[in-house]
Amino acid sequence: MRLIPQPYCIELTGGTTQLREITKRETVSGFGEEEYELLISPGEIVVRANTDKGFYYADITLKQIVSLYGTVPCMKIHDKPRYQYRGFMIDCARHIFSVEELKKMISAAADVKFNKFHWHLSDDQGFRIELDSLPELTEKGSVRDCDSFINCKSDKPYSGYFRKEEIREIIAFCRERFIDVIPEIDMPGHQSAFLHVYPEFTCKGDAVKVKTSQGIFKDIICAGNKEAKECIKKILDEICELFPYDTVHIGGDEVPKANWKSCEKCAEIMAENGLSDYNDLQCLFINEMALYLKNKGKKCIVWNDCLKGKGLFPEIAVQHWQKGPERTSGEANKGRKTILSPFNPFYVDYPYGMHPLKAAYKYEPEKLKGLNSDGKKSIIGVESPIWTEHINNNERLEYMCFPRWFSVAECGWTAKHNKNYAEFYEVLLRLCKLYREKGLNIAPEEDWNPPVLSRLSETIKFFLPKK
Ligand code: ACM
Ligand code: ZN
Repeated sequence: MRLIPQPYCIELTGGTTQLREITKRETVSGFGEEEYELLISPGEIVVRANTDKGFYYADITLKQIVSLYGTVPCMKIHDKPRYQYRGFMIDCARHIFSVEELKKMISAAADVKFNKFHWHLSDDQGFRIELDSLPELTEKGSVRDCDSFINCKSDKPYSGYFRKEEIREIIAFCRERFIDVIPEIDMPGHQSAFLHVYPEFTCKGDAVKVKTSQGIFKDIICAGNKEAKECIKKILDEICELFPYDTVHIGGDEVPKANWKSCEKCAEIMAENGLSDYNDLQCLFINEMALYLKNKGKKCIVWNDCLKGKGLFPEIAVQHWQKGPERTSGEANKGRKTILSPFNPFYVDYPYGMHPLKAAYKYEPEKLKGLNSDGKKSIIGVESPIWTEHINNNERLEYMCFPRWFSVAECGWTAKHNKNYAEFYEVLLRLCKLYREKGLNIAPEEDWNPPVLSRLSETIKFFLPKK
């Protein structure tokens, strides 16, 4: 019996049952939050779990057996995840997607036991959450001059944001599927949309445009500007109120420091805190926000760029995406919670030719360079992001994510000794057929693992200027 993700232990006991629903639920103590047993015999299907989440996972496992195989063999399944954090990220800042489309994506992710939806809601190219206290953030900050990042001649503005009731609708949809929603407000870089509304919060005070191209932009929040930080805290107040979870992502990736280096306010705060390195200033900024969130009962996650500086609070979890694996490992070895989102192969906005399905399947979190046995215990899970600079429609979004997200799901859930690419592949063909029938635009099989020559040409094409 092969499923996706493959359960921890399956023992076939002989024969089949005609039943298609769970007939008995038993609450047992001593099981983990996501652990369950499914005992299938001819006359009954019993689930044993300790929490509603455990019962839910048993339910979706049974549903998958029925939909994949039709017949239900008698068996005993004992299942629990390898990692507690199994995430997928959708960038709704570069391009926004409808509530309906997000539900479609979330639903398919839930079916393979993802449990974290990291929702990237603000970036240089748009601020996309309605906030009552700062309405201008969406009035002005959600609008950019053109719709496309490639052909900017179209003088067709692009805009859009999520109203609070839409966000609550997504949260309710996720809650039914035991998925936590982790909003991301990226700071102090990737903030052109915010700074377009409040240019006084940059170091120089010059006008800032909501960006219409991909990139890393020098307009960042002045780390020495008290009013800027108060304004960010106001945003966090509403975010904390809106998202009923214990974690907020505060970004911290790709922060060019040129403007900080020529700013009096930044120099002042550096001197006050005895700092001489601008990466340490970034840590100071992030720590201030993390402390603010901590006082509201929230934890935070940042991208691994924040490890370049010294002094990042140890309780801040790090999401590793690129460069400096030794730095990330060093922190994990000391006990810092770490999520692995390796650019290669988990960034599914890159073509299959660069990040093929097989590579996403074969990725082994414990092989992060420099990780020791303590560090392995600090890896709380994995996450696959989709950045959407070049993804502006539902079909493309679905095509890029699926079936690669099915690989990542198994990386997060399935025990190492149960992973087997050939077996996974065989059942994946069945699973993809089912999802195609449901209307999900899964990439065709021939695109999943392109041959070497196509991989080369896809890579070259990716780096050539886009027309
Ligand atoms: C990132 O891809 N800039 C986190
Ligand atoms: Zn400054």
